[in-house]
Amino acid sequence: MSRNILTAVAWPYANGPRHVGHVAGFGVPSDIFSRYQRMAGNTVLMVSGTDEHGTPIQVQADREGVTARELADRYNRVIAEDLQGLGLSYDLFTRTTTRNHYAVVQELFTALHRNGYVTEHSQLSAIDAATGRGLPDRYVEGTCPICGYDGARGDQCDNCGNQLDPQDLIDPRSKIDGQPPKFVESAQFFLDLPAFAEALAGWLQTREGWRPNVLKFSQNLIDDLKPRAISRDLDWGVPIPLPGWEDRDDKRLYVWFDAVIGYLSASIEWARRTGDPEAWRAFWQNPEATSFYFMGKDNVVFHSVIWPAILLGASGKPHGDAGAHGELDLPSEVVSSEYLTMEGRKFSSSRSVVIYVRDVLERYGPDALRYYLAAAGPESSDTDFTWEQFVTRNNTELVAGWGNLVNRTLSLVAKNIGAIPPAGDLTTAEDKVVLEASKAAFDTVGGLLGRNQQKAALHETMRVVGDANKYLSDQAPWKLKDDPDRRATVLHVALQLIDDAKTLLTPFLPHSSQAVYAMLGGQGVWSGLPELVEVEDLDGGPAYPVLMGDYAGAEAVWQSRPITPGVEIGPPTPLFAKLDPSVVEEELARLEQG
Ligand code: MF3
Ligand code: ZN
Repeated sequence: MSRNILTAVAWPYANGPRHVGHVAGFGVPSDIFSRYQRMAGNTVLMVSGTDEHGTPIQVQADREGVTARELADRYNRVIAEDLQGLGLSYDLFTRTTTRNHYAVVQELFTALHRNGYVTEHSQLSAIDAATGRGLPDRYVEGTCPICGYDGARGDQCDNCGNQLDPQDLIDPRSKIDGQPPKFVESAQFFLDLPAFAEALAGWLQTREGWRPNVLKFSQNLIDDLKPRAISRDLDWGVPIPLPGWEDRDDKRLYVWFDAVIGYLSASIEWARRTGDPEAWRAFWQNPEATSFYFMGKDNVVFHSVIWPAILLGASGKPHGDAGAHGELDLPSEVVSSEYLTMEGRKFSSSRSVVIYVRDVLERYGPDALRYYLAAAGPESSDTDFTWEQFVTRNNTELVAGWGNLVNRTLSLVAKNIGAIPPAGDLTTAEDKVVLEASKAAFDTVGGLLGRNQQKAALHETMRVVGDANKYLSDQAPWKLKDDPDRRATVLHVALQLIDDAKTLLTPFLPHSSQAVYAMLGGQGVWSGLPELVEVEDLDGGPAYPVLMGDYAGAEAVWQSRPITPGVEIGPPTPLFAKLDPSVVEEELARLEQG
């Protein structure tokens, strides 16, 4: 039975190009999941966009000497290109500066306010002593009042995981100039999180299949909920839709409040662009639908506490009435990964401990990076990216393992037969055993992918590829010149194993699976890729680029399908490039230079 699945992918800040650490957390895992679910026959809506408001953007704009809007325009496009290059199959990758987004955010704020979940009172807020501008929470650092950790930020302590406000910090200092900020009284709006404590705890209690550390972390947050400011002293963001506030140019909604609402606004924008403006409801107001949110672990609190609270409150729960959009479903699962470090250090664009996605794509291609991140990424514990491992895995697993199986087999077929041979009499038990195991892998690997155990899924798939390689070496069809019938049978079996493996690998390696599909005579699109399209703003704002694609129209299906004897097979083209070990030195030298 086909199910509707919302894949909600964390929104990258439009403050610079994406690096490998970013896409390891939200990018590649969400795409593997979505591609698998579509192949398994489900209807997926995968949405995201660039996160363009708030201080991360303002601070970078100041650094680059441009306006926040100019910076957002620049990096919205750069990031869309990075993600397109990786082949991430967004149904819509948009941005938070669309008129549609503003309208949806303001509607949810209004519903929360009307239901009594938003209160206004004055609080101390941090101002940069030099510029007089509001200092974003993340840009105030100091000692955590709860655990004593010295590197706590004004929004949260990464050591104990507690949410903080900047004025809670002991010995606060501005991250921009190291000076203590000034705190001034100003009126802010607060989301009454304690009002949702019971509902959130009950919801978390019923969650199944979450990674245990993510669930535990989220449950701990519920024990200590305080009202949370959802407005800021800033002129860049969504205006507060209340009389006396909407025209002020010194107050905006908090960037995290508007960003999480992007999941809903992007779903609505997608629906409007498909010509069925109500189509989003099948993913948001449907007890049969499920939703999976993908992110790095520093985003968990916003997705397992704040976003569900917004959804509850705007739906009129625990009290009040549903807003204009009606009742909205809570997330089924928050799928968070851990951190990726870079050669033992924290990724940092400013300290140039970084590898940009576009550079890796240009030098090594998308599937080499996707493979590495799926095989060695931070799925459920912190992991380290090393060039040494990148080169080794590329050369042994992709080139010598999978690539070589395809290359050996197709070369033999092209040279000796020129077409897919018929199976003939599958006389040996080996033939049957290896084919059965390959078929059975669809259940095992599919089960793992459905639970987002992607590392184990890839490991199992590569075991099947290994068995196929062993079969080929054992049967040695190149030695069967005098027995062309048996040779044809062996090559038929090997081609069937390759066809299965390219299907199993499609969620991980969509580009090279497309190539194998074509080499085996497949016509048209096997695994769809995103397109970058310039679109008009639906409500009269400036035009902008989005990612979209026709993935449901592609041929890929999650099952073993019998290959067709007689289909012509030409000489193969290499799938992956072998990397010289000197790549390691080169890349490490680039890191040092910064
Ligand atoms: N921009 C945030 C980050 O990069 C993620 C926002 S996710 C959202 O950490 F859902 F809130 F948009
Ligand atoms: Zn702490």
